[in-house]
Amino acid sequence: MPTHDIATITKTLLAQVESSDSPRDVLRAPEFKDLYSAIAGLPPAERGDFGKAVNQLKQTVETAIETREAALEDSDVELLDVSAPWDVNSSRPALLPTENGTQHPLTKELDVVIDIFTRMGFEAVESRQIDDDYHMFGSLNFPENHPARDGYDTFRTEEGFIPPAHTSTMQNRILKEGKAKLEAGGQIAAISYGRVYRNEDVDATHEHTFYQVEGVFVSEYATLGDMLGTLRSFFEVYYGQSLKIKTQPGYFPFVEPGLEFLIEKPAALGGKPGEWLEMLGCGMIHPNVMKEAGLDPAKYRGFAWGGGVERLVMLKYGIEDLRHFESARLAFMRKFA
Ligand code: DAH
Repeated sequence: MPTHDIATITKTLLAQVESSDSPRDVLRAPEFKDLYSAIAGLPPAERGDFGKAVNQLKQTVETAIETREAALEDSDVELLDVSAPWDVNSSRPALLPTENGTQHPLTKELDVVIDIFTRMGFEAVESRQIDDDYHMFGSLNFPENHPARDGYDTFRTEEGFIPPAHTSTMQNRILKEGKAKLEAGGQIAAISYGRVYRNEDVDATHEHTFYQVEGVFVSEYATLGDMLGTLRSFFEVYYGQSLKIKTQPGYFPFVEPGLEFLIEKPAALGGKPGEWLEMLGCGMIHPNVMKEAGLDPAKYRGFAWGGGVERLVMLKYGIEDLRHFESARLAFMRKFA
């Protein structure tokens, strides 16, 4: 008969598993070695039963190890307060910054712009950061190989996708989605806002990455006058004063007529009388753009506009260099905190 008391050994090993931080080590306990060598010393008739008992013991210990490991893993998870301004679990919180972050000035101003148009009844949708030739050009009445495409300095991926160079890339979707509303006697009123990309050399007035806001309005009776009124209201609310406006002809394949919209630089913002600033492009939506979205241009009329957000903000705060926005310079950011 073996002298090994398996029940006692089981108890000892399970107690070791329970108190260990690396419970798997218990499988290498000397008790196992002893038991295995004891098997060899037994008369052949007893080996079978004893061997089974040893295997049973090993399995019991392994199950206990798994349970213990799972428990150890759970107790490793520390609660994380993602809204905390610093790592509350750190043992040295006093050395970590305790200043709260703020929104980037462009984010803040974009919110102001969205808010103004939302109050005027426009729905706001975010533009995309990757799109295709059809939405960027084809659906907007840019014929294949038309030189107007060159004006957009477009990046392309090897697969032919385009990080959009203008928020007009959302127009076809907005028109298609709004069709049901129009047919129910309503109107389409939407803005799309977001980041756009152009392959440009960066200087004080050019960035490869910037922000635009696009507007689209369609109804049975929309007029150019409605458009000018809408834009003027927007700029007057944004700059908080009445403004002089004018337009001049501009060419964009997706509008006819196409216009550039200008405001007279307000004296309060350092402007001299007669100093005009071009703020955006706009016009009456071209019949081909309507047709492409499944809208009957004989029945519906629309206007659209699009322009850069940085330009608006630079004028409002007298910022002289576009590059400040993406500079991550705290001294600049703090002025807007
Ligand atoms: N997408 C044009 C650009 O980035 C701006 C623009 C002009 C948008 C006229 C419009 C528009 O919707 O009607 O240069």
